[in-house]
Amino acid sequence: MRNSFFNMPISIFFFYLLLLLPISKTIAANNTITHYTQSLTQNQTLLSINTTFKLGFFTPNNSTNLYLGIWYNNLPLQTVVWVANRDKPITTNLNISPVLKINTTDNSTTLLLLQNNSVIWSTPPSRLASNPILQLLDSGNLVLRENDDENQENYLWQSFDYPSDTLLAGMKLGKNLKTGLDRIVTAWNTVNDPSLGNLTWRMEVTAWPHPIQAVGSKKQFDTGPWDGLDYSSKPTRVKQPTFDYVYVSNEDEVYFMFHLVNNSVPTRMVLDQASLRRWYSVWDYGSQQWKVYNSLPRDFCEAYGVCGPNGNCDMSKLPSQACDCLRGFRPKSPEEWNAQNRSRGCLRDKPRNCESDGFVKYVKMKVPDTENCWYLNQTMNLDECREKCLRNCSCVAYTNSDIRGEGSGCALWSGDLYDLRILPDAGQDLYIRVPASVLDTNNGRKVKIGVSVGVTVGVLCGLLLAFCLIRKRRKRATLKEANAALKDHSKEEQEEDPEVPSYDLSVIASATDNFSDKNKLGEGGFGPVFKGTLENGQRIAVKRLSTGSGQGVKEFKNEIALIAKLQHRNLVKLHGYCIQNEEKLLVYEYMPNKSLDFFIFDETQRMVLDWPRRFNIIVGIARGLLYLHQDSRLRIIHRDLKASNVLLDDEMNPKISDFGLARILLGDQTADSTRRVVGTYGYIAPEYAIDGNFSIKSDVFSFGVLLLEIVSGRKNRGDPNQKESTSLIGHAWNLWIEERPLELVGEYLRESCNASEALRCIHISFLCLQQHPHDRPEMSSVILMLGSEIGLPKPKEPALFVREYAASTTTTKEYASSNKSNLASVNELSISNLEAR
Ligand SMILES: *[C@@H]1O[C@H](CO)[C@@H](O)[C@H](O)[C@H]1NC(C)=O
Ligand SMILES: *[C@@H]1O[C@H](CO)[C@@H](O)[C@H](O)[C@H]1NC(C)=O
Ligand SMILES: *[C@@H]1O[C@H](CO)[C@@H](O)[C@H](O)[C@H]1NC(C)=O
Ligand SMILES: *[C@@H]1O[C@H](CO)[C@@H](O)[C@H](O)[C@H]1NC(C)=O
Ligand SMILES: *[C@@H]1O[C@H](CO)[C@@H](O)[C@H](O)[C@H]1NC(C)=O
Ligand SMILES: *[C@@H]1O[C@H](CO)[C@@H](O)[C@H](O)[C@H]1NC(C)=O
Ligand SMILES: *[C@@H]1O[C@H](CO)[C@@H](O)[C@H](O)[C@H]1NC(C)=O
Ligand SMILES: *[C@@H]1O[C@H](CO)[C@@H](O)[C@H](O)[C@H]1NC(C)=O
Ligand SMILES: *[C@@H]1O[C@H](CO)[C@@H](O)[C@H](O)[C@H]1NC(C)=O
Ligand SMILES: *[C@@H]1O[C@H](CO)[C@@H](O)[C@H](O)[C@H]1NC(C)=O
Ligand SMILES: *[C@@H]1O[C@H](CO)[C@@H](O)[C@H](O)[C@H]1NC(C)=O
Ligand SMILES: *[C@@H]1O[C@H](CO)[C@@H](O)[C@H](O)[C@H]1NC(C)=O
Repeated sequence: MRNSFFNMPISIFFFYLLLLLPISKTIAANNTITHYTQSLTQNQTLLSINTTFKLGFFTPNNSTNLYLGIWYNNLPLQTVVWVANRDKPITTNLNISPVLKINTTDNSTTLLLLQNNSVIWSTPPSRLASNPILQLLDSGNLVLRENDDENQENYLWQSFDYPSDTLLAGMKLGKNLKTGLDRIVTAWNTVNDPSLGNLTWRMEVTAWPHPIQAVGSKKQFDTGPWDGLDYSSKPTRVKQPTFDYVYVSNEDEVYFMFHLVNNSVPTRMVLDQASLRRWYSVWDYGSQQWKVYNSLPRDFCEAYGVCGPNGNCDMSKLPSQACDCLRGFRPKSPEEWNAQNRSRGCLRDKPRNCESDGFVKYVKMKVPDTENCWYLNQTMNLDECREKCLRNCSCVAYTNSDIRGEGSGCALWSGDLYDLRILPDAGQDLYIRVPASVLDTNNGRKVKIGVSVGVTVGVLCGLLLAFCLIRKRRKRATLKEANAALKDHSKEEQEEDPEVPSYDLSVIASATDNFSDKNKLGEGGFGPVFKGTLENGQRIAVKRLSTGSGQGVKEFKNEIALIAKLQHRNLVKLHGYCIQNEEKLLVYEYMPNKSLDFFIFDETQRMVLDWPRRFNIIVGIARGLLYLHQDSRLRIIHRDLKASNVLLDDEMNPKISDFGLARILLGDQTADSTRRVVGTYGYIAPEYAIDGNFSIKSDVFSFGVLLLEIVSGRKNRGDPNQKESTSLIGHAWNLWIEERPLELVGEYLRESCNASEALRCIHISFLCLQQHPHDRPEMSSVILMLGSEIGLPKPKEPALFVREYAASTTTTKEYASSNKSNLASVNELSISNLEAR
């Protein structure tokens, strides 16, 4: 029939029309075709049923090229989620409309993008359909299917099988093992150029498949395999609030996918070539913007293989000590290793002797890159797994492949182990094979030392305790009474926590000369601090808590025991406490060099801190804060981070003090909001000051202020000697906008200053000072940003002031960006006793 048509003397026009519209259909006059069609021209678009997505032709900003793509229809910001002709744009100077149409040959059906009848883009030929239609689904999936097919999911072709830079809910990332179809996400080259970038995200199908992110052919981030609960690299076991992961691995296919918890909140995962990161963004209807919820890689240890083969990464020792060789291994090149170049990693210290090997157990580990995982069995138990590993000489490590419950399954590795790291709040047990000799020396030594040290310490402590108590009470007590007291005391200690000694009030009083004014070091938000010297000569700092706590004595002691366990080189060490009568005292290690504010705001003292020292202080504070936020088991929010709460040791290393006080005094609030705001003007984040909402991001805000203060040597607000009413943040932001940010750096610092470091610090501070907590980075990212050359996101205007903050009456949610503030003259007023509303 068609042949006879060809021979007929009909107009060329009609012939073309027939080609373009194999099955005739009238097109809606307003050029918007709802739901489905057989062809589409430049001025037409195709809407999904509920209008969430739109298919059509678009031109990126600053471009003359035309592309066929899918974008969110109802968002004010055009957000493209899929592009058909990524590498072959349609030229607009031809003045001929491109057309998308379905073409049917004798045995196949294809979707074609044509211009002037030449093919620009096409789908692979699929099975023949008699009445094919093109449909845009509400999920954002463009599908080609048989119109009257009863199974509506029997697609001839679907765009979800060919991702661009975006993964939407319901899209699979992974491989169809039967057809070989591999769904890979690839970044756009630039924001205005959808052609293929070199950043990709794909499923690596090994014995134990895992998604990886790569730049070119170089792995950049290993998500880790599915451990039964989550992806092995995930730093916490907390469920994502906005979406659920799905992982499927069977004979037919292996894929990763996510589902939305709330379908009406647009959510996407996007690869961004510029920052070489994967962003998880959620649409915020309030601010009408995409909010980045997560970006990967998250921290230093998450960068693929930072510690090289057989090296293990530990964030709590950042940055210089973060890498360590596994036990039984040593750096391959000690010179390079010590120069912080870990690319060669570690090699075995002693050769393995296959028969007599044993295993070192590592806890809370991300599993190594499973590229070298050669065996996976989901039903074995751990003992069988160990046996299997021992029987094969090339097996170097084993672990459970499913950590749910008691754990089950077996995964085995050979060769080098890559991308190992510690995840303090997640991870799993990993067993590394080592020669028996390594095991013997370590275990043997450990046990012996453990026993002898334990005994010695125990005996010494007992003697000391007895001695102290006896001495203290000698004047008015008999030896017998003292013995009884000793018994009681040790019983009590055991019930609470033997690690935190409690001091007698009389001991502290005499150490501080009865809290005399000449021993007063300063006054913090929670009370005055005194220096003192114990009878044994040890110097201490004593904080006399002024605020009563709602807790009972027992809870109070428990909190102190928890806080005392937080140990980090950038945190001040808590030695003990004293509760007697109405007094509540905390005893800390003494810091001879006072606090940071004493140096940075003083005209002569500030010379002591040159740029390298300041940068070291900045990194140290960041590390201490990260430990509080993430690496300690408690997840402490400091809530009063400021220059006077950063103490300096004799080598000018920073130590954060007063951490955990809010927790001690206000109790372990599980709610994220409090009626009592603790903090200091100039440092508190707007959402905390106004609504009492605190989070680790409120600390990040305070860190941002501190960063600017350290760089500039100026106080954020209310320097009485300065007539300027502009806050430091406002001043810094003005300089930033005027593109002269380095003028912020104090003049006395310019000589020693490393301009790129200073610039980075200023840039990071703005990111920390973002008005919306969501926009502020976490401390792990801050440390990553401080320590590397990665590109930083562009900051939006920071939160400049809390306008007319009225302590207990009206509150307003607006923050002025003007340069005037009622608070300009308030000098570091501690508002710990004010009510937030
Ligand atoms: C476009 O036309 C269709 C059918 O005529 C109609 O249902 C739809 O509301 C129109 N859309 C717009 C945006 O005018
Ligand atoms: C193009 O740029 C304008 C102005 O900068 C912006 O509003 C718009 O969203 C951009 N469009 C796309 C597709 O990025
Ligand atoms: C377009 O290009 C101009 C000049 O290159 C640049 O200033 C502008 O920011 C670009 N706009 C977008 C939206 O990328
Ligand atoms: C598309 O619409 C614009 C304006 O409505 C018109 O100028 C242009 O000629 C149309 N292009 C085609 C190919 O129909
Ligand atoms: C469309 O299909 C016809 C056969 O029905 C074929 O002759 C033609 O080449 C196809 N068009 C393109 C551009 O491939
Ligand atoms: C269609 O037929 C051509 C040639 O006859 C053949 O090469 C091709 O593989 C067939 N396609 C399908 C999908 O069967
Ligand atoms: C369109 O294609 C025809 C035939 O191939 C060619 O002669 C004509 O020059 C093309 N038009 C343009 C604007 O390129
Ligand atoms: C990836 O592309 C970026 C530019 O976007 C380039 O700087 C980098 O060298 C490329 N990396 C590889 C491994 O190709
Ligand atoms: C889903 O999100 C929308 C928009 O933010 C909100 O109005 C709605 O209450 C949410 N639904 C659920 C079940 O959380
Ligand atoms: C449209 O449909 C999608 C998929 O069913 C759903 O997630 C979304 O909430 C719907 N949107 C609206 C505006 O109804
Ligand atoms: C680290 O060492 C490797 C191997 O010797 C070398 O290729 C690389 O250039 C070094 N990197 C740096 C930053 O020095
Ligand atoms: C897994 O291990 C069990 C117990 O050793 C064994 O019976 C089973 O055959 C193994 N499965 C595979 C696929 O090797």
